[in-house]
Amino acid sequence: GSTRFYDFKVQTLRVTKLCNTKEIVTINRMFPGPVIYAQEDDRIIVKVTNVTPYNATIHWHGVRQKLSCWFDGPSYITQCPIQAGQAFTYEFTLVKQKGTFFWHAHVSWLRATTHGAIVVYPKTGISYPFNQPYEEHIVILGEYWLRDVVQLERQVLASGGAAPPADAFTINGHPGPNYNCSRNDVYKIEVVPGKTYLLRLINAGLNMENFFAIAYHNLTVVEVDAEYTKSFTTDSVMLGPGQTMNVLVRADQPIGKYSMAMGPYMSAQNVSFQNISAIAYFQYLGAAPSCLSLPAKLPRFNDSLAVMTVMDGLRSLNPGDVPKEIDASLFVTVGLNINKCQSKTPVWNCQGTNNGTFAASMNNISFVNPTISVLEAYYKKLVGHFTEDFPDSPLNFYDLVNGAPNNAPNNTQATNGTRTKVLEYGSRVQVIFQDTGTVTTENHPIHLHGYSFYVVGYGTGNFNPQTADFNLIDPPYMNTIGVPVGGWAAIRFVADNPGVWFMHCHLDIHQSWGLGAVFIVKNGKGEMETLPHPPADLPRC
Ligand code: C2O
Repeated sequence: GSTRFYDFKVQTLRVTKLCNTKEIVTINRMFPGPVIYAQEDDRIIVKVTNVTPYNATIHWHGVRQKLSCWFDGPSYITQCPIQAGQAFTYEFTLVKQKGTFFWHAHVSWLRATTHGAIVVYPKTGISYPFNQPYEEHIVILGEYWLRDVVQLERQVLASGGAAPPADAFTINGHPGPNYNCSRNDVYKIEVVPGKTYLLRLINAGLNMENFFAIAYHNLTVVEVDAEYTKSFTTDSVMLGPGQTMNVLVRADQPIGKYSMAMGPYMSAQNVSFQNISAIAYFQYLGAAPSCLSLPAKLPRFNDSLAVMTVMDGLRSLNPGDVPKEIDASLFVTVGLNINKCQSKTPVWNCQGTNNGTFAASMNNISFVNPTISVLEAYYKKLVGHFTEDFPDSPLNFYDLVNGAPNNAPNNTQATNGTRTKVLEYGSRVQVIFQDTGTVTTENHPIHLHGYSFYVVGYGTGNFNPQTADFNLIDPPYMNTIGVPVGGWAAIRFVADNPGVWFMHCHLDIHQSWGLGAVFIVKNGKGEMETLPHPPADLPRC
């Protein structure tokens, strides 16, 4: 492969949207940010210079960072943030990877405006496993906030209560005509009748999962999380934050202007959210520019069946080696908790359900960032920054697998900790995620850094080893799995990439509340099984 250099300047940009002007944090004053184009096996070198007063890091979401954990990007996991006026150069190789990825800031909630696509083409001479589309377009689903998102995160954490909804959903940064002052703030794709288009869908939003559909047009799914799937056709798809999906769309309808719509999938009940859709146009050449757009039909906001139907359709095209045996097995509950309010004064910190404080956890441990990165502490053997006792199963594990199958476990008090799970190099790992329901059950998009994993099973209710049905033949190979609302999902991967890897809910508010844990994968014996030394310009805390 070749080497591609990029200069990323973290810079603020003044934008006017929704009748308001504010400064947003961007890369190179672009929103969405610059696209990284590459080919499989290319080397990518990005110098990131931070000229804002905010802390910054960039994560290359979906890139497996083979032997390059130092450049993964999550703050306090693999690096300290790049502080104001500082720079850090990320260097990694797209080893055997191609498809649609994205990069995003991995500090506080900066991802809201600091994100962009990564498009990796097959090697020269290799074509797609489907007919070459006439054109390709990047379609980034996002959320726009009028408030400063870093301050907002702080305020929400201090209140103990829920996060307010975003002010708008956006498609490539544009809210579209359903929002105030946005009649002309609309993204548009112009299409030639009869041609087929490849849309690279990316959900870069913060706190909401989203449906996507195009009026009167089918979507043919061909790739998910940068891995080919057997193609299948659907009228809508759902992407949680952190998920990417390629779909083919044929312009096979009468000449006209069709809406592309993005709206919420709100699996949690009794939660306030914006039930407005962002609209973009899929506009045929020859359609009168002033003509009305035909409305897209999105599934109802709580239509989990529509979500499961698409899940069922996801099958790897080239499944590779699905681990049949397991060396390390974890059962991990994911969900929200209500902790006792910490304050003596009645209002502060007590705005969660029943005057408690919202938290979130895996196996009832709320992940807390250390003050230097876990990777640096691990590599330099610095004590006191993390522990190696992340539990393999929750305290109520017995009740879970033997109890009432549809009674989601109740976790009322989580413990804080920076706990890690250590994995031997090369071990075959299975993780079963179980959604819990103290506050409400909901779909959690769980993302693992450093790996793709096979989603070998999922279902509703509590996981039951007697009845669970696993697909070891052609499961989808993903990096973010929406654990079904009130249900479970099982993943498998081989721990062959040494380093420190974050696993967390990609809903930022849940991550802020502690819905995460860290894997430490030990070095193997060979040189190609050992994490290299840290780069000289690694930021300091
Ligand atoms: Cu896309 Cu840890 O993130």
